[in-house]
Amino acid sequence: MNSTKESSSPAPSFGGSAAHSTLSIDTVALRWHGSSLELLDQRLLPAQEHWITLEGACGVAQCIQDMVVRGAPAIGISAAYGVALAARHAENESGAGDWKAEIKQAICELSASRPTAVNLFWALQRMERVFHACGSLGEAQKRLADEAVAIHQEDLAGNLAMADHALEAMGLSAGTSTPISVLTHCNTGALATGGYGTALGVIRRLHETKLLKQVYADETRPWLQGSRLTAWELMREGISVTLNADGAAAAILAAGEVRWIIVGADRVTANGDVANKIGTYSLAVLARYHNVGFMVVAPSSTVDMSLASGVEIPIEERDGIEVREIRGIPLAPEGVSVFNPVFDVTPANLIDLIVTEKGVVRNPNSTAMQALFG
Ligand code: MRU
Repeated sequence: MNSTKESSSPAPSFGGSAAHSTLSIDTVALRWHGSSLELLDQRLLPAQEHWITLEGACGVAQCIQDMVVRGAPAIGISAAYGVALAARHAENESGAGDWKAEIKQAICELSASRPTAVNLFWALQRMERVFHACGSLGEAQKRLADEAVAIHQEDLAGNLAMADHALEAMGLSAGTSTPISVLTHCNTGALATGGYGTALGVIRRLHETKLLKQVYADETRPWLQGSRLTAWELMREGISVTLNADGAAAAILAAGEVRWIIVGADRVTANGDVANKIGTYSLAVLARYHNVGFMVVAPSSTVDMSLASGVEIPIEERDGIEVREIRGIPLAPEGVSVFNPVFDVTPANLIDLIVTEKGVVRNPNSTAMQALFG
């Protein structure tokens, strides 16, 4: 059952947990209430802050597919809560006798929602391990809810650790270093994660420590995560942001002010190749040409050591309507054929740093990745 209401976002909500209550992040993508999950409908931002309430896994899977919630870590966290909801409501759906079938079906539906971000499968595998260890529905209800909350909390803690590692890896320290300008792509902030953000978490930390001069945010065609979400998220926190069309990135780098391009990831393979929002690869090429640092920030739940290289990553292609129209307004001739891959793969040799909560991989390759994640 879905119901909706509009409200502003409070601090990250784990259903009563006091963890990280001192963080002053004004933006959250999801709120857990024990028997329901609320998702901020990111399709409607920045015009409306509209929350959707979900009480079943099927609704959560649909919201992931439709991009009500998006961003690799936020997708994984939502899916974990989806499994917890399936357990919570299993008795109503099919009687206590069939609770195992109900939860298995939920995991199956959630895993089919989007293909590229490995955080989804990582979170579902974690939930599945807990599920297999449960002997009764009551035990499953408690332990699956606890596990989903743990996944959410760990993601937030990981973001904070990554921000520390990134500043150290860039050789920046508060009070002594000169503020820098950076460019980012897509949305990797509190809206895309358990809170704070990956690449945008590093940018937040630069701002908090007065090391940030300016953020350039690519608008990120076609879904416009940069203009609709990143610019909104940064402006409401008072972080200085300049929005640019994706095609302006080369001119911005040529002007010489930007020191680092900082992006997130949807999947990192065993050789250090990175799948991220379409357009990331061209930014990495530009960064190398202009001698600008290129940093990927992602939790270890985004690392997929089972794939040897980026060619093995399933790349999602979405409906051409996302390119042909915006909210029903045609931008192209009716019926034109469209190629709409929503991620691309940046080869490891164009990346300077991969920052995770476990540590930093410099000049990534198979050996360096194996050393940290093997
Ligand atoms: O299609 P989206 O909006 O889910 O794509 C999101 C991205 O590509 C992000 O850059 C990535 O998931 C990292 S989010 C911390």
